[in-house]
Amino acid sequence: MAGDKVSIHGSWASRWVFILAATGSAVGLGSIWKFPYMTGVYGGGAFVLVFLLCIALLGLPVMLAETLIGRRARQSPANALRDLAIEAGHSAKWSWAAFAGMITALLILSFYSVVGGWSLDYIIDMGRGDFQGVAPEQAGAYFARMISDPWRLTLWHSIFMLLSAYVIARGVVAGLEHSLRIMMPLLFLLLLILLGYSLTTGHFMEGVHFMFNFDTSRLLDGLLPAMGHAFFSLSVGVGSILIYGAYMPKNSSISGTIVGVALLDTFVSLLAGVALFPIVFAAGLNPGEGPGLMFVTLPLAFGNVVFGQLMGMVFFVLVAVAAWSSAISLLEPMVAYLVERTRVSRVWVTTGLAFICWFVGLGTVFSFNIWKEARFFVTGADSFQLYQWGAAGGLDFFGVIDFFTSRIMLPLGGLTFVIFAGWVMGREAVREELAMRSPKLFALTFLLMRYVAPLGILIVFAAQLWK
Ligand code: PHE
Repeated sequence: MAGDKVSIHGSWASRWVFILAATGSAVGLGSIWKFPYMTGVYGGGAFVLVFLLCIALLGLPVMLAETLIGRRARQSPANALRDLAIEAGHSAKWSWAAFAGMITALLILSFYSVVGGWSLDYIIDMGRGDFQGVAPEQAGAYFARMISDPWRLTLWHSIFMLLSAYVIARGVVAGLEHSLRIMMPLLFLLLLILLGYSLTTGHFMEGVHFMFNFDTSRLLDGLLPAMGHAFFSLSVGVGSILIYGAYMPKNSSISGTIVGVALLDTFVSLLAGVALFPIVFAAGLNPGEGPGLMFVTLPLAFGNVVFGQLMGMVFFVLVAVAAWSSAISLLEPMVAYLVERTRVSRVWVTTGLAFICWFVGLGTVFSFNIWKEARFFVTGADSFQLYQWGAAGGLDFFGVIDFFTSRIMLPLGGLTFVIFAGWVMGREAVREELAMRSPKLFALTFLLMRYVAPLGILIVFAAQLWK
């Protein structure tokens, strides 16, 4: 029976390790860096509301689907879909969709590592006291100086990628448990301290208002970005959670665990937002400033409190660790696949893939400096150009990768997994794998997986096209 398979890559010692690993994967730059800046760009409350709805109605069912597919097949995403599809009398071609997801994960890793590198850089800068007593303009100028230096970014990007590859080369199960057990609670604690600081800025309510007050006319603006980010934040749609599910012990309950992980991840995002925006307003910064938001706001906060130097340093260590535990989950699906499919060792597979991701990541590094003027998809009043050097609008290289992965591939990946669980595997297999105690709750979950999530994803895509 499918449920009795064992993964060749090993498995987590207990359900607790799965929770750590999945939380480690979900909580990362998505919550601390991307969520606040996207909330700022897409105007606050309206984005937050749509994001929360997407987490609950779309992201969560996808997360459940991925975990149960992984746990049933005990293999990498592409092989899991192939085997389960064949078992259910469907086409082996399903594996292609999962393959696309695994490539998407690598593309995400390419820029994820660059931003992870920024946090490594900031550990040193904070620790050195570069931000002591800093003013808003200075913090902004500091960030601008950092990203304008391609060598500096490449150095930290390389170090971050090496750190991630190291863990994966050794095998996920070893090493991860130890660090996460201490780091995750510490990250929470520091976020709470940061929140405490925000309370003293005198602009706390302004921040809260910005995040939770919305204008119904703006609900549609950030719809697709919010859906893409919900998937990004939960690590779903690319097979990362699937592969972690493949290492999950048989007798642990999927649904309770997954809901817990999703709640925690969402909570960290909201906490990061509520902590950051008051600082943004107190300093008179622009909430829509984009990817630099966290790297300008946090130094401001830590630069102006007692023990800020130490706390700031520790905070960036934690951000880096959170990013690192997510980065490894981006690499693992393809590594597991190639280990299953070829005779090449895990170490070499990891080395090769990390190198490719590193190389693609250079494009993101250069987007902020020497390729700043390189613009793709430039739309004018009545013109469209695929590429133009020095154009006013359009996207830079990082923008293109981010757009393609978060807005298109992640939702499509999510769609694949819910359709696969809801329609290909079918009710009985899902029931057996989820093993929920309450039949009513199972019926609701299955309904979400089979109808609500797939339709919801399609509706968001359609709404975007006809907006
Ligand atoms: N969820 C991670 C974060 O929020 C990013 C990630 C996306 C990880 C997709 C794995 C897969 O930082």
